[in-house]
Amino acid sequence: MFDAEKPNQRRPPVNWSDKHFETRAIRSGQDPDPTTGSVVIPLHMASTYRHDRLGEFKGFEYGRTGNPTRTALEDQLASLEQAQWALCFASGTAAAQNIGWLLDPGDEVLLSNDIYSGTYRLLVGTLERYGIVTTLVDFNDLDATRAALGPATKLVWVETPTNPNLKVTDIAAIAEITNGHRALLVVDNTFATPYLQQPLRLGADLVMYSTTKYIGGHSDVVGGAIVGNDPAIGDFLQAQQNAAGAVPSPFDCWLTVRGLKTLAVRMDRHSANALAVAGFLEGHPGVKRVFYPGLPSHPGHDIAKRQMRAFSGMASFEVHGGEDAARKVVEGTKLFLLAESLGGVESLIEHPHLMTHISVQGTGVGVSPDLIRMSVGIEHVDDLIADIAQALDRAV
Ligand SMILES: Cc1ncc(COP(=O)(O)O)c(C=O)c1O
Repeated sequence: MFDAEKPNQRRPPVNWSDKHFETRAIRSGQDPDPTTGSVVIPLHMASTYRHDRLGEFKGFEYGRTGNPTRTALEDQLASLEQAQWALCFASGTAAAQNIGWLLDPGDEVLLSNDIYSGTYRLLVGTLERYGIVTTLVDFNDLDATRAALGPATKLVWVETPTNPNLKVTDIAAIAEITNGHRALLVVDNTFATPYLQQPLRLGADLVMYSTTKYIGGHSDVVGGAIVGNDPAIGDFLQAQQNAAGAVPSPFDCWLTVRGLKTLAVRMDRHSANALAVAGFLEGHPGVKRVFYPGLPSHPGHDIAKRQMRAFSGMASFEVHGGEDAARKVVEGTKLFLLAESLGGVESLIEHPHLMTHISVQGTGVGVSPDLIRMSVGIEHVDDLIADIAQALDRAV
């Protein structure tokens, strides 16, 4: 409890936990500034804070350790996830690295065989150098997952839907397997966001985000977050956040807070547009296969329907004509911009084999050379379909 007489405390924000997601997105952590009444949280740029007396300060001491704009974002995010705590970082990869501090030499990490290449690079490329063992698992095979879990397993790292093949993993089923085991279930929820999917409520221990994507939502900020309920893990990760120092700048936090306020309306439109684009692609003769969890033809559709509110804006597809045709399509769109990253309001298109996932070529992570990934934005859907249609018609 906040005690006005005690030093080194923050006044707790108003608790909006009985309110709907959209309301919490706008009000949680966003109490009007007590000195001016500003309805928008201030951008606190200070790197250091005055002590009233030796060892007595108003909850903030040094900019790496804590910052009021960052706290506003962390409170907002924790509220949206209905979680006990959230911690924000300089990138999604920095958040993943921070989870890595939970590992000791000899510990094992099980990870999806379809995963963002940077996470693969960090877990397999970097952490293995420090005595961490990593094993690729197909989390759609529950027996194989059960068999892979051993006494050394410390983290089970699930991404769903996956980047870039849009595979869906049953979070509750994996949580049932890890439950009672020392392994912590981590879910990278970047593609789904807390609006569409709530892994903690399905039994996960930790959720991680690249907030660079849908949470920021406007392709203008790089950031990451970890969200969880266990206070001991939260305290440890917060201490490591301070010890390792990969914190976001106050302005990055401010931009992310602003983006997060409109997450629900953006995700509804991203999802509706992506479903329409994926449906169009499925009927196009130049398209070999479409991967979108919202399509009934997707092998994970029933699981996605159970655990997601809608299916997000990410879709990928393979074209007839191999890598050459895929290159022509990604170079032939005008509205869909040829660029890495995802989750902004503008539509993007890319070739994972040669762009985002080039570092996993030749590993167990399968990315076909004729695969194209789209981040479907919130422009008018008819314009998007016309754009992809003209690029396909000229290329395939
Ligand atoms: C699913 C997923 N997780 C994590 C990351 C890493 O995030 P960042 O680029 O913010 O470090 C990305 C980046 O593309 C991603 O797509």
